[in-house]
Amino acid sequence: MSDKTSKPVSASAIEKHVYKVFPNDMNAHNTVFGGMIMAKCDRLALVVAERHSAHVCVTASVDSIHFRAPAKGNDTLLFSLSLNRSWGSSMEIGAKVEAENSYTGETRHILSAFFTFVALDENDRPVDVPEAIPGTEEQKRRYENAEIRREGRLKTRKQLLRAADKS
Ligand SMILES: CC(C)(COP(=O)(O)OP(=O)(O)OC[C@H]1O[C@@H](n2cnc3c(N)ncnc32)[C@H](O)[C@@H]1OP(=O)(O)O)[C@@H](O)C(=O)NCCC(=O)NCCS
Repeated sequence: MSDKTSKPVSASAIEKHVYKVFPNDMNAHNTVFGGMIMAKCDRLALVVAERHSAHVCVTASVDSIHFRAPAKGNDTLLFSLSLNRSWGSSMEIGAKVEAENSYTGETRHILSAFFTFVALDENDRPVDVPEAIPGTEEQKRRYENAEIRREGRLKTRKQLLRAADKS
């Protein structure tokens, strides 16, 4: 186990990472393929988790993925991700994706999601990570809400493990 230190949320955050949509990003419905957006979020959330923990991290779960509006050809996607809270070895990272019309500057909120990553030691065992210190009012709100979501995740996990034991 590493020493339990702390790091500010801003130290690992990714702010409006730019991805220009090209024709090969589209689905049959001619909107941007959602799986590509999810994969990019997972990859960027990993960077946030590894910056914060300074360890190799894996995705443990993803919850509340909401596609709020479609992204279209020629949009520019803006990915923002930051650590909401850390506990023992796990961290919740919030993701927000916006689509920008780069000619007009107009933006639309495309996706929100929460990723849980777990930091691993050299033996692939979960290892403690630094505490996350929220700075802004927004970061403090996300920090509080993350605890509520964690309670739900742990409850569901326990119920599923119990159900698997019975079968
Ligand atoms: C994630 C993983 C390392 C957890 O291992 P484990 O032996 O279950 O570990 P533990 O029960 O000790 O839990 C470790 C932490 O993970 C959290 N966790 C485990 N499963 C979780 C889940 N489904 N959702 C959210 N958190 C989870 C626990 O709450 C705990 O957090 P804490 O240390 O902050 O309290 C393991 O399940 C794993 O390797 N999964 C596969 C990961 C993977 O391949 N991802 C895709 C490629 S990156």
